[in-house]
Amino acid sequence: MVETGAEPAKTRTIPDTGDDNAPQDAVGSAPLPKILIIANQKGGVGKTTTAINLAATALAAIGSRVLVIDLDPQGNASTGLGIPQSARSRGTYDLLIGEAEIGDTIVTSEVPGLDVVPSTVDLAGAELDLIDMERREYRLRDAIGGAVADYDYIFVDCPPSLNLLTLNGLVAADAVMVPLQCEFFALEGLTHLLRTLDRVRRSFNPDLELQGVVLTMADARNNLTNMVAADVRQFLGDKVYETMIPRNVRVSEAPSHGKPVLLYDFKCAGSQAYIQLAREILHRDEDQSS
Ligand SMILES: Nc1ncnc2c1ncn2[C@@H]1O[C@H](COP(=O)(O)OP(=O)(O)OP(=O)(O)O)[C@@H](O)[C@H]1O
Ligand SMILES: [Mg+2]
Repeated sequence: MVETGAEPAKTRTIPDTGDDNAPQDAVGSAPLPKILIIANQKGGVGKTTTAINLAATALAAIGSRVLVIDLDPQGNASTGLGIPQSARSRGTYDLLIGEAEIGDTIVTSEVPGLDVVPSTVDLAGAELDLIDMERREYRLRDAIGGAVADYDYIFVDCPPSLNLLTLNGLVAADAVMVPLQCEFFALEGLTHLLRTLDRVRRSFNPDLELQGVVLTMADARNNLTNMVAADVRQFLGDKVYETMIPRNVRVSEAPSHGKPVLLYDFKCAGSQAYIQLAREILHRDEDQSS
C-alpha cells in the first residue's frame, strides 16, 4: 500500500518570479500531497502542460526528487520531458499489468532530479488487459509501493477520459489538481468530474482530496474567460486558484524541445504563471495547516 503522511514536512522555496538570479524565497514548510494527479476528462485543457511544469517548479522549489508518471497512451508528458522512444522500452503499461517493478520502468529526464515512468504504445490496450485482473483499480497504487519514499512529489498525468487508467491514477493519488479551460461547457464538465471524485472516494480511496482547480489558457481580455472564471469561482470558492495560466506561445513551444517551459524560457508569461501557481499552492497549504 502507498504510505503517505508519514513524511517529514520539507522547507521549500519557489524561484522568484522577478529575477532568475534573485535569492530563493522561502515559503514555508507545509506538506503538499505527495501523489498529485492532474485530471480532467476533457481533452486539450492543459493537463500535461500543468503536470510537466508543476513537476519542474516543485523540483526547482525543493531541489530534490520528483517523479512524473505518464498514464496517457498519447505519451505527451514523456515527449514533453524529452524521453526518446528508444528509452521507452518499459513503462506504465508494464507496471499496471504487473510485468515490471516500478524501478525497472523509471527513466531519467534531461532535468536533473526529475524522473519519468514513460507511457508506451501498448498502454492504449491496457484497459482490456486489466479488465479481468485482480485489484484492477489498485494496480498503480500497488505498483508505486515503496518507491513513494524515493521522491518528494509524484505527479500523474492522465488521459482525457474517466477510464480505468484514470481510475488507477485517482486510486493511487492523495489529491487531484484539475486544469480547466475557460470555455462555455467548462462547468458541466467540472460537475461531472466532481461526481466521479465522490464515487472514487466512496468506493476506493476515501482520502482523495480536491487540491484545486487551475484556469488555463486564459485570455483576460476575453469576456468568455472572465464570465466562466467568475462562474467557476462562485461554484467552487477558494478551491479555484487566483493564478490563471495565460495562453502563451512559449508554453506550447516548450514540449517540442523536450523541456518544461521554465527551462525553455524562464521569463515568459507562462513560466511566471506556473511559478506563481506553485507559490499559491504552497501558501494555501500553509494556511490550511496552521
Ligand atoms: N498556457 C498555454 N498557452 C498556450 N498553449 C498551451 C497552454 N497550455 C497548453 N497549451 C497547448 O495546448 C495543447 C493542449 O495542452 P495539453 O497537452 O497540456 O492538454 P491536455 O489536457 O494534456 O490534452 P489531452 O487531453 O490531449 O491529454 C498543447 O498543444 C499545449 O502545448
Ligand atoms: Mg495530456
